[in-house]
Amino acid sequence: MCKVLLVFLTCLNLLIAADVSLKDTQIWNEQRVLNINSYENFGALWTKLQGEYIASAVFIILILVISIFALHYMVIGPKKFSHDGKKIYAFSTFERLFHFVAAISWIILVPTGLVMIFGSYFGGGFFVRMCKNLHGIATILFIISVIPMLLCWIKRMLPASYDLRWMMIVGGYLSKEKRPVPAGKFNFGQKSWYYIAVFGGFIMITTGAFMFFLDFNSASLQTIFGISHIDILRISAIVHNILGILCAVFFAIHIYMAVFAIKGSIHSMINGYKEEEEVYILHSYWYKELSDKKQINPSYIYDSETKI
Ligand code: HEM
Repeated sequence: MCKVLLVFLTCLNLLIAADVSLKDTQIWNEQRVLNINSYENFGALWTKLQGEYIASAVFIILILVISIFALHYMVIGPKKFSHDGKKIYAFSTFERLFHFVAAISWIILVPTGLVMIFGSYFGGGFFVRMCKNLHGIATILFIISVIPMLLCWIKRMLPASYDLRWMMIVGGYLSKEKRPVPAGKFNFGQKSWYYIAVFGGFIMITTGAFMFFLDFNSASLQTIFGISHIDILRISAIVHNILGILCAVFFAIHIYMAVFAIKGSIHSMINGYKEEEEVYILHSYWYKELSDKKQINPSYIYDSETKI
């Protein structure tokens, strides 16, 4: 299986290289020289960012994020909810399926993106080119999953008045106490992740496609924005890198929350069910809604003492 994948990626690398060397276009020949004349603005900014800051920033952020997770885990520890009680059906098979495809795509996208950022440390060449092509293939998986994610979850992801209160207490994650927090089916943190993954994802797909296809016809974009083709590529690279860092950080937080910070939370994306106690504490407004609509037979009641 691995050998087949390797042969496929090698052929893809060769095909792309051959295709590029034959072209007489705005990127590779005469116009390349003309385009370089407009180096000052985005060219200089891109060279500076890529040459001096991006890799170091990513390295520092990576260390910071891992340290914060470790600190949180050691000081506050994970939230544990009873797994012996009732379960509440939270995610349909379709939701779990598109989520699974998105997860697979990002598990490939993020590490291969990091390999490209640290390309020179990996010696460049075949391995980095292979990661670039894998990055492109994984994007197709993400495109397939992002549309249903947008449509199925947008309603539940709309801002609510209690989001502000959730934000003020950071969702209760800085406390060991188990007290109901103000959140619907998705809390403010999850909503933020959704917007980054879906809308940030669309920007990542677009800017990534510009860089992957390099020589696409950009005449209309050039007219609308009054910039050259190469500047479109430079801006794409800048946006893709900076937004990519944000996406990777949120992805890391998402995995930390799902796998470590809320023990057993990942089961909801495997079998569709959440623990009743978890919903009562972490998604109290949704729990109330389900109780009021008689969609569940609640074991917990919010009394006048319980402040949500
Ligand atoms: C290995 C990777 C992943 C794991 C283990 C994972 C796990 C989970 C779990 C357990 C939930 C339900 C959490 C809850 O409702 O309390 C969830 C929800 C969600 N996942 Fe993932 N996920 C992964 C990757 C992704 C990716 C790549 C995306 C988007 C591109 C994504 C987007 C979402 C969104 C928007 C939600 C709903 C809001 C939220 O819970 O944050 N997930 N995921």
